[in-house]
Amino acid sequence: MSTAYPTVGVASGLPRYSYSLRLLHWMIAVLLIMALMGGMTLGLLGYERLVELVGADMAGYAYMGHKTLGIVILGLMLLRLLVRVSQGTPGYAIDLTRTQHVVAGLVHFLLYVLVIAMPVIGWLATAAAGHPVNFGTYELPGFIAPDPELARTLFLAHTVVALCIMGLVVLHVSAAMYHARVRRDWVTTRISLMN
Ligand code: HEM
Repeated sequence: MSTAYPTVGVASGLPRYSYSLRLLHWMIAVLLIMALMGGMTLGLLGYERLVELVGADMAGYAYMGHKTLGIVILGLMLLRLLVRVSQGTPGYAIDLTRTQHVVAGLVHFLLYVLVIAMPVIGWLATAAAGHPVNFGTYELPGFIAPDPELARTLFLAHTVVALCIMGLVVLHVSAAMYHARVRRDWVTTRISLMN
């Protein structure tokens, strides 16, 4: 049976992202899920409850771990943006409708913007709350003075942006499943780490 688009079987040689961009995509995907799950745990329990459950030392490590992970994601996202801008993106070898192009482009664009904004907001919220901005055992500059009102607003933004990222990830993964399982085209191999 012939299809209007290349299937995985005939996809070799079709345009795909460079190895560095594919590696960064999967590294960031794993770290982002860890940051979302870890952050939700911290947010839902709150500091006092966490201390009751695991003690002050472990609670401190949990906050330090979340902040460090977020800053690593920020660094990797900025690197990814630089590589993407310098290399460009591979063209699609199939006819996508205008709507598909616009929706895919918008979801990818919003993911870049929000995943970069998320750690920046967390960083500033932490500083505004008067807490240390930990990167492992180092303490980074907070850039803004403690301000409890601002801290509340920024932590609210940290929660709202997290929910938006989760919604976008669901859309993004659903589209990937549609290409891989329904259309069985080569689109997911563009970002796959395997040959
Ligand atoms: C991509 C990176 C990040 C993601 C995905 C992320 C995700 C989250 C999520 C989902 C929450 C829970 C929010 C809630 O339940 O209301 C949270 C809480 C928190 N995040 Fe992040 N975060 C990131 C980066 C950062 C960074 C860089 C910092 C600080 C340097 C930070 C500091 C915090 C703190 C202190 C909390 C706890 C707030 C509380 O106890 O209410 N986050 N994060």
